[in-house]
Amino acid sequence: MGKALIIGCGGVGSVTAHKCCQNSDVFGEIMIASRTKAKCDALRDKLAGGRTKVSSAKVDADNVRELAALINEFKPDAVINLALPYQDLSVMEACLETKTHYIDTANYEPPDNAKFEYKWQWDYRERFEKAGITALLGCGFDPGVTGVFSAYAQKHYFDEIHEIDILDANAGDHGYPFATNFNPEINIREVTADGSFWENGRWVHTRPMEIKRVYDFPQIGPRDMYLLHHEELESLALNIKGIRRIRFFMTFGQSYLTHLKCLENVGMTSIEPIEFNGAQIVPLQFLKAVLPDPASLGPRTVGKTNIGCIFKGVKDGKEKTYYVYNVCDHQQCYREVGSQAISYTTGVPAMIGAMLVMNGAWRKPGVFNVEEFDPDPFMDALNNWGLPWTEDFSPALVD
Ligand SMILES: NC(=O)c1ccc[n+]([C@@H]2O[C@H](COP(=O)([O-])OP(=O)(O)OC[C@H]3O[C@@H](n4cnc5c(N)ncnc54)[C@H](OP(=O)(O)O)[C@@H]3O)[C@@H](O)[C@H]2O)c1
Repeated sequence: MGKALIIGCGGVGSVTAHKCCQNSDVFGEIMIASRTKAKCDALRDKLAGGRTKVSSAKVDADNVRELAALINEFKPDAVINLALPYQDLSVMEACLETKTHYIDTANYEPPDNAKFEYKWQWDYRERFEKAGITALLGCGFDPGVTGVFSAYAQKHYFDEIHEIDILDANAGDHGYPFATNFNPEINIREVTADGSFWENGRWVHTRPMEIKRVYDFPQIGPRDMYLLHHEELESLALNIKGIRRIRFFMTFGQSYLTHLKCLENVGMTSIEPIEFNGAQIVPLQFLKAVLPDPASLGPRTVGKTNIGCIFKGVKDGKEKTYYVYNVCDHQQCYREVGSQAISYTTGVPAMIGAMLVMNGAWRKPGVFNVEEFDPDPFMDALNNWGLPWTEDFSPALVD
């Protein structure tokens, strides 16, 4: 039995903590540490009484010294970083200092520049390798399971994959006119950015929401979806040999888009600080403060998510297509762990990634994306831990 330190006690952190407690053969002890200790204490009390010992702590994850001191005191086998992308580098530094394995679900993003890419974290490869510890990057659903699906398709069904379309549909209805399903600041930075996709060895850039398609999702039905830039495109373009095109589409309802456009038009999504009543505030951070907390959407969200990948390529000289996806029900997640499906589909893979690093199946010194490991134990674990997947060998394709 091992020990994990979970940093961040929001929607995703809460799901991962629940799943670690369900998996007490691997997670004998967990500590939940975050900025607001009261949230960690409440979660600790909720999870107390099972086979996994749960404790809580306050930590500023921007502060490497504070993090390292906490890691040295608790001595976890792995740190699961479920705070915000801004904290990735400080948590990685603390893991290096204490020689502790590292897992996260979102790549580093500087607070003052709405731009995410793996470069900052890939720059740690040599230091993690020399320290003999593993950093597993982007181990949520997308990125995360989408990379595992890609490695699985590559291993079992294709000689060469030429095209990947990642489709992320959320048909959940929370009843609010406007709310985001995970951290509003991170979510809005992502969807208001320019889009891009990878084609023939280069990035093709688009304006935000410029490319729209309609797809008939299994168990959900037809939905409008829009092309976005997404972080796994960057690593899959390197790790899937022979790839010619990768695109990422996410569904948005008309009400969400209309509200977002209006907020953008009046400057509420800006990350440039402004003067307000004698203080400097960032409009997007103020907006986050007035929007519903994603962690509170669980009881009121009904409907399903469907996230998966469609592959086109060749096997034994013949063209082949393959679709693999997971369907997750918001209310079922809420009944199990008290969270909606977006937090669930991220928090479960984070627990699985930590389990595979801790039990050695996915442990090697260095910094890695999920598709660089054997996908089979992860695919089995998805079926065992609440995210079963379905295969389709003649799917409808996206034009
Ligand atoms: N790969 C995927 O599929 C995927 C999908 C969704 C989300 N994500 C990622 O998952 C992560 C968590 O998302 P979420 O929806 O759970 O966000 P959230 O609800 O906002 O939770 C973030 C948590 O981090 C804590 N935190 C923030 N800054 C901190 C600091 N400096 N020190 C210590 N704790 C700090 C927050 O503390 P307070 O409680 O004090 O605010 C909060 O508990 C994000 O990085 C997000 O991008 C990945």
